[in-house]
Amino acid sequence: MKSVRNDFPILAQRVNGNRLAYVDNASTSQKPQVVLDAVRTFETAFNANIYRGVHSFGEETTQQYENVRAQVARFIGAADASEIIFTKGTTESINFIATAWALKNLQQGDEIVLTQLEHHANLIPWQQVAQKTGAKLLFIPVNSDGSLDYSTLDQLITPHTKLVAISHVSNALGTHVDVVRIGTHAKKVGAKMLIDAAQSVPHQRINVQQLGCDFLAFSGHKMLAPTGVGILYIKKELHNAVEPYQFGGGMVFNVGWQESTWAQAPQKFEAGTPPIAQVIGLGAAIDYLEKQVDFDALQRHEAQLCAQLIDGLQKIAHIRILGPIDELRQQGHLVSFVVDGVHAHDVAAYLDQQGVAVRAGHHCAQPLAQKLGYDTSVRASFYLYNSAQDVQQLLDALHSLSKHL
Ligand SMILES: Cc1ncc(COP(=O)(O)O)c(C=O)c1O
Repeated sequence: MKSVRNDFPILAQRVNGNRLAYVDNASTSQKPQVVLDAVRTFETAFNANIYRGVHSFGEETTQQYENVRAQVARFIGAADASEIIFTKGTTESINFIATAWALKNLQQGDEIVLTQLEHHANLIPWQQVAQKTGAKLLFIPVNSDGSLDYSTLDQLITPHTKLVAISHVSNALGTHVDVVRIGTHAKKVGAKMLIDAAQSVPHQRINVQQLGCDFLAFSGHKMLAPTGVGILYIKKELHNAVEPYQFGGGMVFNVGWQESTWAQAPQKFEAGTPPIAQVIGLGAAIDYLEKQVDFDALQRHEAQLCAQLIDGLQKIAHIRILGPIDELRQQGHLVSFVVDGVHAHDVAAYLDQQGVAVRAGHHCAQPLAQKLGYDTSVRASFYLYNSAQDVQQLLDALHSLSKHL
């Protein structure tokens, strides 16, 4: 892949006197100049609220906002732009469905099937639903190498299952989940399927119709857009079954003193002023990705960096790699590992001194860490602007750390 590092002004900074190797993209990505410019142009040239002002700025803003909705629909293969709802992130998108659909549609005796790989954002909202409705949570187990045990699907997904809520790619281990295979089981029993696509949409071409999901959630900030904008795909057939998540301006059809009626989707699902500048930034980010990136080449590039890192880590004493190593070499975008005898936060602090930005902790997947027998880990995660030089910088820093052990 051609180098795009220069498109990202933040990457020119030196950190603690060193070249910056930013390999914390699973947390959040950096933003290219064109995205920064798009947000600034909006704020300085035509800032207005949407659907409110019948003035030129208001109309221009509304048009641009709706253009991005249509652009996102095309980007993920949705049949209709009204299936795209803007939220503030994956977390809010999942809470949206937990509150506005699951709380109203689930009851005692119903079951929700998750995997043991889930990020807390796709676990805790369902715990809340289970506690409030009496529904039960079941988990597709994870094997010791971070892969899922699909042999349990027949046993776990039954006529009691009302929802299957699964991540597409694990943020903690990098495992790719066969959502189509799981979805086939869900469909057989009439269960709805939600996909947490926070770690897949930035890295691979997806098509919601081919995935066969009812709901899908992801975040703009992990795919070059600003923070504060997320996406919730709700399949059109379910627009009536999902209640508004919030109530107020912009989502009503008619308002009386005692009761009100709702506008059609998507307005029904977007009360109040949405994150307009961020949505416009998201549009610029998708434009940039579509112009700069062939997604197959991106996946190959990231997997190559994973393979380089895995090869290097395997030569350093005291390091244990987590997750499905062979799969990460083929299609990964992140590698997690433990340095025996050193807390992950201490490793990350040491790496930061060398200009390397990684994530350390349980990666919002605490039960998974407990199950696999580690407390915290270090995670390096790649994106389009990373290079072999970033990986080498990380490996050099780890070599020098290992000399102190
Ligand atoms: C798989 C997964 N799900 C959900 C989230 C939550 O995303 P956000 O914090 O943008 O809401 C993340 C963020 O790291 C994630 O990786």
